[in-house]
Amino acid sequence: MRQRRKISLIGAGNIGSTIAHLIVRESLADVALLDIKEGLPQGKALDLMHASPIDGADVNILGTSSYDDTHDSDIIVITAGITRKPGMSRDDLLMINAKIIKDVAVNCAKYSPKAKVIVVSNPLDVMTHLTYKAGGFNRYDVMGMAGVLDSARFSSFVAKAANVSVSDVNTVVLGGHGDTMIPLVRYCTISGIPVTKFLDKDKLNQIVQRTRFAGGEIVRILKTSAYYSPATSVVSMIKAIFFDKRRVITCAAYINGEYGLNDLYIGVPVILGKGGVQKVIELELSEDEKSVLHKTAGTIKTLINRVMS
Ligand code: APR
Repeated sequence: MRQRRKISLIGAGNIGSTIAHLIVRESLADVALLDIKEGLPQGKALDLMHASPIDGADVNILGTSSYDDTHDSDIIVITAGITRKPGMSRDDLLMINAKIIKDVAVNCAKYSPKAKVIVVSNPLDVMTHLTYKAGGFNRYDVMGMAGVLDSARFSSFVAKAANVSVSDVNTVVLGGHGDTMIPLVRYCTISGIPVTKFLDKDKLNQIVQRTRFAGGEIVRILKTSAYYSPATSVVSMIKAIFFDKRRVITCAAYINGEYGLNDLYIGVPVILGKGGVQKVIELELSEDEKSVLHKTAGTIKTLINRVMS
């Protein structure tokens, strides 16, 4: 019988390998690191194996190009695909990543049909939907990582501006993982105290704008997309599942009826535990917020139809 949990990481690029490093550092699980690039997952796995005695991490790390090695994974994280280059929107990636994700989902489902699957590849909401449909997974088992990251970006800006601990800031960002995301200022608190006690409206508006374009800001400066914060976000979701924490977080979850939307993945607050997405939490939205959410859902549906046809 297998002694430890197992996580397969599909894509051993910046995000995949950073997740692998965090998993090893925290001895969370055995890792299968898979990529199509010859030598990349094998080399990184070997490097991580060398790091494991320093951390006292008794976990196995395997670099591979073969899906057999992902068999019986408890969690699969999909970061395979191409990233945004400067001037490219997430949607530009659509057709290239869709082809990759369909293939990845089918292969993952073949060896681990009951795994929880966290999708990171962009455009996020569409790729998560594609993973669910192409892999034939249970809807509660598949989710997209976006809300944790978008909320963390929002929180980091609030903490800096208010000059308080990042640990005390609580934020909710829902909607699509793109420039139409909806950072909800009225749900932002600093240790339960409304953020408006600390920051004025203008400052908060600036922060909301910066949060919306935070991914693009990094691409502009770094010339590739972010990876430390996405990887850290994924690991917090892995822990919520492994330790059945029932964390209240936002992620791209399957919606059927909630928020007046049907049959798509979009960012909503959920309870995340050992059963995956255990509950979608429906918040009261203003007319403006509702209209942005529905418009974003329309765009996601159009993109889904394009990649599914
Ligand atoms: N199967 C497995 N791996 C693949 C495949 C495939 N079919 N196609 C591409 N890859 C691998 C690439 O070889 C590369 O190593 O996916 C990896 C992606 O890594 P990076 O280019 O470093 O990208 P990363 O920063 O990790 O982002 C991954 O997450 O946030 C999103 O937009 C981002 O879609 C991108 C994804």
